[in-house]
Amino acid sequence: MLETNITKLFGIKHPIFSAPMGPFFTRDLALAVSEAGGLGVLSNVNIVGTDPVKEHMQSIEYMVEHTDKPFGLNILTSRNNPGVVEMVRDLPKIVMNNPKMREQCIYWLTSAGSSRYLPESKNFKELREKFEVKHFHVAPAVWLAQKCVDSGVDGIVVTGTEGGGHQSYEKVTTLVLLQQISKHFPNLPKIACGGFATGEALAAALSLGAGAIAMGSRFIASKQSEFHPKYKALIPPGKPQDTDLYTGAFGPIRLYKNKYALEHPAPTNKEAMIAYEQSITPEQREKDLGAYDRVYNGDTETGAVLLGQSIGIIDNIDDVAEIIEKIIKDAEKTIRKNYSSIK
Ligand SMILES: Cc1cc2nc3c(=O)[nH]c(=O)nc-3n(C[C@H](O)[C@H](O)[C@H](O)COP(=O)(O)O)c2cc1C
Repeated sequence: MLETNITKLFGIKHPIFSAPMGPFFTRDLALAVSEAGGLGVLSNVNIVGTDPVKEHMQSIEYMVEHTDKPFGLNILTSRNNPGVVEMVRDLPKIVMNNPKMREQCIYWLTSAGSSRYLPESKNFKELREKFEVKHFHVAPAVWLAQKCVDSGVDGIVVTGTEGGGHQSYEKVTTLVLLQQISKHFPNLPKIACGGFATGEALAAALSLGAGAIAMGSRFIASKQSEFHPKYKALIPPGKPQDTDLYTGAFGPIRLYKNKYALEHPAPTNKEAMIAYEQSITPEQREKDLGAYDRVYNGDTETGAVLLGQSIGIIDNIDDVAEIIEKIIKDAEKTIRKNYSSIK
């Protein structure tokens, strides 16, 4: 077993988290990860026309109904995210009023916006004061990690540019970012994310100061994930070069290079993103919004296929418990081997 500051903080067996993957549902995936001894994370399902508070509430209910293990949820705190005000206001209250929920829903991960939004919520303050819940925020750069620290986070998710999905303009790799952030914030609990798919990489993350890893693409390629079989099928033959940065709803996004991606070149900075948003026609916006629905239904050509460079390491669609077991075994083997080489 690998015991770290993060496994102790959350009372979990293995230092492995599933990454949030909105706007897609990750209920069954989160359940499988938590049941296997990691920590499963519910995604912010913000598909147009849905009520994100209700979606989260139903997912939390699903989790407490099917497992007694801890789990987490993600809230995208971008002002552009529909329902963000309601989510930070209402979800902590819903969880606080239910003994099983407040005992299990202990990892509150915010991303793609301000790290202050959730801790400023009166209801979240009360939940955090009274119960053992923790607030982490995604930090893609040192200066953003500093902002998280200033907001009083309990920890950060250090996410580098090789990861799938939402990305920052910073484009720093996980390897460099982890070293930088560990140097600046040695005692801050850290979860490394972006590019992880093996036990050797978990061993490296622990060496670099993280207490756990979070994985997105690796878990999409699992039997339990809710992604369309055609989406999953792109992963085993995929190469790191099959993904690149393009334009997403909240800035850059790492996508599989398909027709949709190639029509959405990456914004180079916030100004370019704002100019792009102002330039698109209502018809184009409508079409872009449908990109998630399309891929959810198996259209991997004109839909947005979010994947990371780690697809180059993943060879099979596997069972979640087997993925976790193999990663832990290989990490232990690597750490022992490295230790034995010290003379
Ligand atoms: C399909 C997909 C959807 C994602 N959606 C979100 C999201 O809603 N919120 C978020 O913070 N990150 C999101 N991400 C980023 C992941 O949380 C994570 O940072 C990334 O998957 C890590 O890289 P990996 O795919 O190499 O493991 C998404 C990634 C993918 C692949």
